[in-house]
Amino acid sequence: MKKRIGVLLSGRGSNFEALAESVRNGRIPNAEIAIVVSNREGAPGIDKAKSRTIQTRVIPSKGLERETYDRQVAAALEEANADLVCLAGYMRLLSPFFVAAYPRRILNIHPSLLPAFPGLEAQRQALEHGVKLAGCTVHFVDENLDAGPIVLQAGVAVRDDDTEETLSERILHEEHRIYSEAVRIVLEGRFRIEGRRVLIQPEIK
Ligand code: GAR
Repeated sequence: MKKRIGVLLSGRGSNFEALAESVRNGRIPNAEIAIVVSNREGAPGIDKAKSRTIQTRVIPSKGLERETYDRQVAAALEEANADLVCLAGYMRLLSPFFVAAYPRRILNIHPSLLPAFPGLEAQRQALEHGVKLAGCTVHFVDENLDAGPIVLQAGVAVRDDDTEETLSERILHEEHRIYSEAVRIVLEGRFRIEGRRVLIQPEIK
């Protein structure tokens, strides 16, 4: 049986597209994207999902209490029989209810080498801090912001002439690569967690 991925997004959806492409070309084998949910009307990621004929739902979050909202999203994921939830530019904190509903089954991608620069505009934070190595992180999600055990990271060297845009673009390229790799590892169950460490078992060829 194919593993079913539920994607939550709020905007552009390039990480969703990278996952969808990896599912299509077999880099994430035996999987399908069961549903894409957005908390924002008009999120371009929803149109991208529709053009791939993937089931979509827009569930506006405005004005709703966190858990009330999360219960609606969890119901949509449940209905779609999602095995794994991938946050792909989903700009909301998850409630303890939601995290408990999908234990160790929620992944997030963040454009920094966590625990440095959590929160918004991570690439700008990195540039302003003056780090020489930026990057991105795929991690399991808990109820804290951009926290949770780290599955994969990729470093990106900062150049003297980088702007937020040029650095973000190079980081995004790495995001797309490591997100697919992390999803594959998690769906294949090729890891164990010791404390905060995610230990990855090699691929059986
Ligand atoms: C990505 O850079 C992702 O890492 C970031 O939002 C962007 C979404 O782009 N996520 C966060 O900052 C989460 N804290 P996308 O919609 O094109 O995938």
